[in-house]
Amino acid sequence: MTFENILYDKDGAVVVITLNRPEALNALNGALMTELAQALDGAEGDPDVGAVVLTGSPKAFAAGADIKEMADKTFMDCYLEDFITGTWERVARCRLPVIAAVAGYALGGGCELAMMCDIIIAADNAKFGQPEITLGIIPGIGGTQRLVRAVGKAKAGEMILSGRIIDAVEAERAGLVSRVVAADALNDEALQTARKIAELSRPAVMMAKESMAAAFEAPLSHGLRHERRLFHALFAGEDQKEGMAAFIEKRRPVFKNR
Ligand code: CAA
Repeated sequence: MTFENILYDKDGAVVVITLNRPEALNALNGALMTELAQALDGAEGDPDVGAVVLTGSPKAFAAGADIKEMADKTFMDCYLEDFITGTWERVARCRLPVIAAVAGYALGGGCELAMMCDIIIAADNAKFGQPEITLGIIPGIGGTQRLVRAVGKAKAGEMILSGRIIDAVEAERAGLVSRVVAADALNDEALQTARKIAELSRPAVMMAKESMAAAFEAPLSHGLRHERRLFHALFAGEDQKEGMAAFIEKRRPVFKNR
């Protein structure tokens, strides 16, 4: 399969999907997320495939949702298109196990995308964070729900409320990532793990995954809907416009509501 914003490689029973917008540190835009969903459709529809590796570049897994694409959105735009959902949540709905191999920045939507995967393996240069608050918004694709569940209230609170970014060692200590490996070993380690899973009983793996998901689902779905409404609502205020404009103009934001 060929795409513009991602690379799709099949390596035996493993599909490796590489986010590929180097000019924007793999910022996630609508086109990329649509392609990612199509790639996962392809992997799921291929009976030979038993696991997926999702990765980025050595510098960035993904530096968040594309700020330039969403900076001018209004509340009504967000509400009517139900921004951000649908294809953006496709990874969380994938029936095959997905391993995130994270090097460099996994920020905002990038961190949220990694958290939708089943396993996160981090390179020693990885950095995780939810810096949305510095843009005048909150995480919009699961961060307030999945990060709290992954690392607990105290650390998630500091990350989400202050925007503090943590390194790979701290992420492993907090339980966000399964393990940290040398940056140049990341791809091999992720592939080996995926191959190992792909060699196991497909239905057992899929049911194990489905069963783990059920442990989160009931309260999570409620929380996600609530989060999305608040995320939309922030596009009605001035601070989102200021925060995003400041980012694009490479200056410090001056928020009205603080
Ligand atoms: N959206 C759009 N473009 C982005 C981007 C993003 N999230 N992150 C980086 N880029 C672009 C930059 O604008 C820059 O483009 P230009 O060369 O055209 O100026 C290019 O990628 C390289 O970035 P930097 O020059 O900023 O690289 P750096 O090494 O100096 O800094 C960084 C790296 C610290 C990750 C910095 O790019 C950064 O802070 N990025 C934004 C992180 C962020 O706030 N993410 C959250 C987004 S909101 C979100 O994700 C909502 C949600 O919950 C779904």
